[in-house]
Amino acid sequence: MSTTDGYLPGRLERDYIESIGQPPQPALLAIEVAAIPDGVPILDRAGGRVLAALAANRRRIVEVGTAFGYSTLWMALAQPAGGTIVTLDPDRSRTDQARGWWRQAGIPDAQIQVINRPALEAFAATPPEAGLDGPFDLVFIDALKHEYEAYLAALRPRLAPGALIVADNVLWSGAVADPASTRTGAAELRAFNTAVLADPGLVATILPVGDGLLVATVRA
Ligand SMILES: C[S@@+](CC[C@H](N)C(=O)[O-])C[C@H]1O[C@@H](n2cnc3c(N)ncnc32)[C@H](O)[C@@H]1O
Repeated sequence: MSTTDGYLPGRLERDYIESIGQPPQPALLAIEVAAIPDGVPILDRAGGRVLAALAANRRRIVEVGTAFGYSTLWMALAQPAGGTIVTLDPDRSRTDQARGWWRQAGIPDAQIQVINRPALEAFAATPPEAGLDGPFDLVFIDALKHEYEAYLAALRPRLAPGALIVADNVLWSGAVADPASTRTGAAELRAFNTAVLADPGLVATILPVGDGLLVATVRA
């Protein structure tokens, strides 16, 4: 039960949090600028800060949906030395640009492996795609909304005990919480959220940050 009498954090609080945060690395700012005219959907900055805090002790990360590598870079900058990320996106023109910004930020090429295939195809490949065997200690999901459940099902056996699962857009600009909304993807995201939050093997919730960030820990 809240004791805050209807208080809801808003723009004032978001600006306050941003004002005391570390200034974003210049390559992150460059991606933010580039994403707008190109219409590339990227995580919002507050979500990036959450992702960085969650990635700080995670040595093996898998990401579904790279785009310009904005979320990838927040995680890569936060990871411990020797940490690695494998990130999947079929759009090579986007991930090639992402590599340029990662280099600009001083991230060694070996830290981030890109797989340019649809994620479900890559997870099911025979022989297996190098780099996708796991075990992973963080998965970040941010690609096709109707495939979120299938991404997690494919990755679940490859997660280490105690691993974190993070997924973006799980509130889908209000469509998910509105039972009357028929926006494309809303029903699938509702099913994904319900399944994850009810899973006895996970401890999970949704942070109302950006477009909604689902965060779950695999019980050890
Ligand atoms: C929302 S963007 C990712 C944004 C990125 N995570 C960020 O915050 O910077 C979604 C990306 O998923 C990619 N995508 C589309 N279909 C996919 C699939 N089947 N598997 C993996 N990625 C896919 C798109 O090409 C697009 O770049």
